[in-house]
Amino acid sequence: MKISASLMCADLLNLEASIRQLEKTDIEMYHIDIMDGHFVPNLSLNFDTLTAIQKIATKPLDVHLMVTNPQDYISKLAALNVDYIVFHLETCNNPIRLLNEIRALGIKGGIALNPKTDPLALQYLLDYVDLIVIMTVEPGFAGQKFIPSQLSKISAVKNMCQNRDILIEVDGNITLENARNCYNLGADIGVLGTSVLFKADADYIAATTKFRNYVTNIISI
Ligand code: DX5
Ligand code: ZN
Repeated sequence: MKISASLMCADLLNLEASIRQLEKTDIEMYHIDIMDGHFVPNLSLNFDTLTAIQKIATKPLDVHLMVTNPQDYISKLAALNVDYIVFHLETCNNPIRLLNEIRALGIKGGIALNPKTDPLALQYLLDYVDLIVIMTVEPGFAGQKFIPSQLSKISAVKNMCQNRDILIEVDGNITLENARNCYNLGADIGVLGTSVLFKADADYIAATTKFRNYVTNIISI
């Protein structure tokens, strides 16, 4: 399973040290949560933090927009050279248009689904999307509990995406156990936040190695 490290969960007083340590691991991406206090009742990272992150981060940036008007953020994110822009299906009346705009900028386009959203809503978007994010908690806050009903959504989306070049990411309370279940059902990427990676005094190399070994059944606990 690929790892996208959720930087809103890092110790923000020591963000530089965290990123420098993460750079030494083999994680695949950084997950950047952007909120507007409207679509979700919280705020997180912003364009200025992203600019600072870009100065030292060399791995791809996977931006998760939890905002009511995602179209307003695209050009600024493009200027910051992000790799993925994911917006919520619940926020957009013309998702094909927005995905096309994102792809036209050379950025991969993604759709996130809230727990309430039926995966069938994705069916007509499959030709236009590179990444599907299945929220396994209600978006907006770290440290919540995994919603088990979302497991069947992973299988449904995996089925829908057969023979297509679309990645499936799971976001929210991705523990070792939850990650293994999600991976077995077809999830490609796990967003690692407070549940497994960002703990006090964590050794990121040890934590990510243990994560991969557990998810692929090399070790049990
Ligand atoms: C939700 C956020 C969180 C976070 C994951 O909007 O995207 O899911 O990064 O961290 P934990 O492990 O605390 O759920
Ligand atoms: Zn997220």
